[in-house]
Amino acid sequence: MSPPLLEPLQLGSLRLRNRIVMAPMTRSRAGVGDAPGALSVEYYAARADAGLILTEGTQPSIHGKGYCRTPGMHSEAQVAAWRCVTQAVHARGGCILLQLMHCGRIASRHNKDAAARTVAPSALPARGQMFTDAHGYVDFDAPEALSSVEVPQVIAEYAAAAHAAQRAGFDGVELHAASGYLPMQFLSSGTNLRNDAWGGSLNRRLRFVVETLEALCGVWGAGRVGLRICPGNPFNDLQDADPGETYGALLAALAPLPLAYLHVIRSPRPDLDAFALARRGFAGALLLNDGFDYAKGNAALAAGLGEAVSYARAFIANPDLVRRFTHGLPLSPFNRKTLYTPGAEGYTSYGPYVAAD
Ligand SMILES: Cc1cc2nc3c(=O)[nH]c(=O)nc-3n(C[C@H](O)[C@H](O)[C@H](O)COP(=O)(O)O)c2cc1C
Repeated sequence: MSPPLLEPLQLGSLRLRNRIVMAPMTRSRAGVGDAPGALSVEYYAARADAGLILTEGTQPSIHGKGYCRTPGMHSEAQVAAWRCVTQAVHARGGCILLQLMHCGRIASRHNKDAAARTVAPSALPARGQMFTDAHGYVDFDAPEALSSVEVPQVIAEYAAAAHAAQRAGFDGVELHAASGYLPMQFLSSGTNLRNDAWGGSLNRRLRFVVETLEALCGVWGAGRVGLRICPGNPFNDLQDADPGETYGALLAALAPLPLAYLHVIRSPRPDLDAFALARRGFAGALLLNDGFDYAKGNAALAAGLGEAVSYARAFIANPDLVRRFTHGLPLSPFNRKTLYTPGAEGYTSYGPYVAAD
């Protein structure tokens, strides 16, 4: 019997040749017009052996951008540039979904278009700083609270980006609802202080994520849409009074949507088992993430915790990770200093495994 990670998997409408998923990673290499360039084509193509590639977080609109040099999916130039990525991955037999990431209040105006706004459920600035090319580290922007009329417009931006992803040749999309970005800002009691249709009660806090997913499924069909969550993660100054309750209710609200998968990041809270919560509340396939190696990934699948495992950091310096796992080859370490710097160094400079003489 082959190791569970090497078994093929039907994930909604997606056919994966193995269960080793490349997790989404912002690498800040987008070029003019926030479009991915030739280096990104090379980077993703080199990792196409993964059963599934989830792209770096990609903004659905100019307003959704937070960090420097992240790509978008809201212009025809971006569609054309992403098409080069999807074609290269498909030419190598791979499967690739676009991760839609709207940063909300985790943003600096120095990283985005002059016409872009920084918006959030409520006008509460996050404590902390982020890097900008122009001014180094700066405080997060003070966000504007979205009006009740503007919230559906943001959902429409996600739907437009989902259409654009189709034109770019993707196999589907993933909604990033983790790491303290806009969808998680709506979900969480500490960042959503609204008292309208989009906040003020647990059910109303869920509504943004539910309606955004409905919009994405309306474009792609639910079998090509995934959701990423990390219950209880305080990253990016996020607080929720009761994440167990929030995410239990979210999964119950999503029951009518047969999503391709739920991508669950292990909760940093010792009192919250996010994998168990997801298993209880979600009927479909689970992608497990955070801190797995090959042995632990196989063990988790064998124990029935999920259907596939996603790997982020391991893919940075090991484009041929699937081969290295399969043949027990050593993994190369990555250089932190070049994670987000422009250019090939630390991005496409890591090659496949070469045996020492
Ligand atoms: C450089 C870097 C960039 C990341 N960017 C994203 C992102 O754009 N979207 C996202 O959902 N997670 C992002 N993450 C989180 C990873 O997907 C993953 O959850 C985390 O690294 C833990 O998985 P690992 O132990 O396999 O590395 C990023 C992680 C790293 C290291």
